[in-house]
Amino acid sequence: MPDVNANIPVLTVDGPSGSGKGTVARLVAARLGWRFLDSGALYRLLALAAEKRGVSWHDEAALSALALALEVEFVGGNADNEPTVMLSGEDVSLAIRSESCGNNASKVAALPGVREALLARQRAFREQPGLVADGRDMGTVVFPDAGTKVFLEASPEERAARRHKQLKEKGIDASLRDLVKEIAERDTRDRVRCVSPLKPAEDARVIDTTSLSIDEVVDQVMALPRSGDT
Ligand code: C5P
Repeated sequence: MPDVNANIPVLTVDGPSGSGKGTVARLVAARLGWRFLDSGALYRLLALAAEKRGVSWHDEAALSALALALEVEFVGGNADNEPTVMLSGEDVSLAIRSESCGNNASKVAALPGVREALLARQRAFREQPGLVADGRDMGTVVFPDAGTKVFLEASPEERAARRHKQLKEKGIDASLRDLVKEIAERDTRDRVRCVSPLKPAEDARVIDTTSLSIDEVVDQVMALPRSGDT
């Protein structure tokens, strides 16, 4: 069946944890007036839902079924504040941001059945006038036909320091040393997994953000050609 949404422009922002992709993608979406997909939040929500129900991280069938049935809602949110994330009517915006939830998300994200189950849900975000999608496999698997693809990198030390600052701002306690270890663990799992491993799409623009400000990265992304532009 032809994809009726194929003409809706998509800009993908992939990269490892702490590369700045979430913040950059949200700001780019705001500047363009496009929708925004935080695909990592879906994996985090699944991990949280599984934990609440006592589903094992290895039970691929149960996790895939849960992924299909997730009752998720993103409410509000703009360039400055993240949306309120609801899971079955409960506000879990803060709960899904902990490092342990991120780590559990990367466990469920390694299962092919789970990724397949979340595919249609992610593609449904592609609506007019366009979509900015942030994740690990946006440019390679979920939106391979995206007109603009960006892959953000940063040194592991810088990424841990950024994550530390981000968590502190949210009032979440975390030690920098633990973060360095947890981020390295999560990165390895994301990069070596068999399905949709974290890697730049062949046609992605790779930007090292280590010594760049958020605004500088946003400007670089905005300067890239977009489909539909003349
Ligand atoms: O981006 P975020 O840190 O919220 O993602 C949490 C975890 O979800 C990642 O470590 C990764 O394992 C998984 N993920 C993924 N594919 C995506 C987005 C996130 O596998 N598109």
